[in-house]
Amino acid sequence: MNPCSANQNTPIRKHAFDNFQQAVALGKKMWSDESLGTSGVACLSCHAEYDLLHLERNQNFPHFVKMVGDVVSLDQMINYCMLNPMKGNQFEKNSKELTAMAAYYRSYRMQYLKEQRHK
Ligand code: HEC
Repeated sequence: MNPCSANQNTPIRKHAFDNFQQAVALGKKMWSDESLGTSGVACLSCHAEYDLLHLERNQNFPHFVKMVGDVVSLDQMINYCMLNPMKGNQFEKNSKELTAMAAYYRSYRMQYLKEQRHK
């Protein structure tokens, strides 16, 4: 018997997504939502056209981010930007919202890499 067989495991949350694209779709809306925080801007107000994301460094998380002054995972970085530039609340670690935010980051990065290849 496979100890990882689905029906006897404890879920981390209520089922959220059937596939990656569903998570990306929710994340995409959230990255441009000015009401996500209270500062009146959206993630993409600062990060449109890949600005400030240092995607050219082609690094994975965790890594050192100057603004934070610390080594952070992607989820932690998202929460840092939620608390500071966005003046909002952190996402719960197992929330579908945090997964969606990270999924859009990955999709945005894949789009960047694709554009680089065609230059
Ligand atoms: C007011 C501008 C601003 C807003 C709004 C903002 N950020 Fe940022 N973000 C920054 C700056 C500045 C940095 C850090 C750049 C540095 O120190 O290298 C950063 C860094 C990041 C990084 C890490 C980049 C790296 O070096 O790997 C991620 C990921 C990120 N932001 C995601 C988000 C998300 C998600 C949101 C919305 C919830 C958001 N940001 C909102 C300004 C902003």
